[in-house]
Amino acid sequence: MSRLTVVGVGYVGLVTAACMAELGHEIVALDVDAGKIHALREGRVPIYEPGLSELVAANRGRLEFTTEPAYAYRAGEFIFICVDTPSTPSGDADLTRIWQAVDDLPPDEGRHVLVTKSTVPVGTGALVQAELAQRGYRHISYASNPEFLREGTAIDDFMHTDRVVVGADDPDVATQVARLYEGLDRPLLVTDVASAEMIKYASNAFLATKISFINEIANVCETTGADVRVVARGMGMDHRIGPHFLQAGIGYGGSCFPKDVSALKQIAGNSGYHFQLLSAVIEVNELQKRRVIGKLKRHLGDELRGRRIALLGLAFKPNTDDIREASSLVLAGRLLAEGAEVVGYDPIATDNIRAVLPRLAHASSAMAALEGAEACVLVTEWREFLDLDWTAVKQAMARPVVIDGRNALDGAALTKLGFAYEGIGTRVRRG
Ligand SMILES: NC(=O)c1ccc[n+]([C@@H]2O[C@H](COP(=O)([O-])OP(=O)(O)OC[C@H]3O[C@@H](n4cnc5c(N)ncnc54)[C@H](O)[C@@H]3O)[C@@H](O)[C@H]2O)c1
Repeated sequence: MSRLTVVGVGYVGLVTAACMAELGHEIVALDVDAGKIHALREGRVPIYEPGLSELVAANRGRLEFTTEPAYAYRAGEFIFICVDTPSTPSGDADLTRIWQAVDDLPPDEGRHVLVTKSTVPVGTGALVQAELAQRGYRHISYASNPEFLREGTAIDDFMHTDRVVVGADDPDVATQVARLYEGLDRPLLVTDVASAEMIKYASNAFLATKISFINEIANVCETTGADVRVVARGMGMDHRIGPHFLQAGIGYGGSCFPKDVSALKQIAGNSGYHFQLLSAVIEVNELQKRRVIGKLKRHLGDELRGRRIALLGLAFKPNTDDIREASSLVLAGRLLAEGAEVVGYDPIATDNIRAVLPRLAHASSAMAALEGAEACVLVTEWREFLDLDWTAVKQAMARPVVIDGRNALDGAALTKLGFAYEGIGTRVRRG
């Protein structure tokens, strides 16, 4: 078993720390956010991720949390970089925190392997290695180990990943990093650093492309009378296509797809290649988030000023409190700009969204949001919305209009109850 330093205890870092501890490794986890470290030391997990609190608690003996870089960087034979790499206004990835980590490396003590788990542009590993060489840091070797977990199912994704990708230009380093995952018994792909970096971007860009593709099919279904849910099922039965990521909706969000697709487009652009397909994927996604406005107007008329509209779900997907690039932000922003009275409810993401969209009114429950509303939009398909007592909802709403942004509700049942129901890429139903 090895001693690992994990830098950054956000979604990826904390899951990595807890899962690696579960595999038997000793972890020193570092973050610049003293509040997060304080909470973790007190046994509180500062983010919402199913099963994570339990896993952290079960592995307390192998998990140490600190804000001291000088201590943390010396502690681990392997230093896993899990800091955030957000988009800059140009769409490139902001690597400030990666370079901060390089600056914090111990100049001359012990042997370490620097392992980048954060998603970084292709070529970053080469630049980091050149910087290490320039500083004379021969005691630090380098590997890329991109992470593929999804928030909401992160622990299962880590422990049962489809593949572990290790990119290293030195085969011995690759073997050392791969050995850390031996307990998982999952397929391993060892490659060079640049290819490992590209695998992460290409995977996310491909999945985002699938989503934008089915969303465009949905939009054409709406004008031609086909039903995208049946179309997607029929497509997914073809094993060359597969059923995943073919759920039409109001666009993808989150901390990864939007940023990684845009970063890959920039990576290509910076090297002189115009990645046309990705430009379309991004544009389709942006437009998709706004299509709900047209649907609402179809039911309520062009004037949305003063109309009460309930948004069910604000997180970018169920089972997370992450609201980064959530469709709810664009939708709520557009509706507020139209003068609508927008009331949102989310089981756990409310505090996060309040910080970025203070003008959005927040209800304490789904029913409170729906009370007196002239329309509701299902934005995030949390289980509790699917299980609502829709007879009671109909009584509570001023007008029974449901726009199902995730095609997750039973449109036929709602229509029977007297709702006007509209999904994405499905026929409009009037009760
Ligand atoms: N969130 C996901 O689902 C996911 C999945 C796969 C890959 N990734 C990638 O993993 C990386 C991390 O993503 P995340 O969602 O966990 O980010 P996050 O914002 O949740 O967490 C990053 C953490 O790093 C800390 N940090 C920043 N600079 C630091 C420094 N110099 N020293 C110590 N700590 C520092 C921050 O305080 C924060 O707690 C990104 O590159 C992301 O693209 C994310």
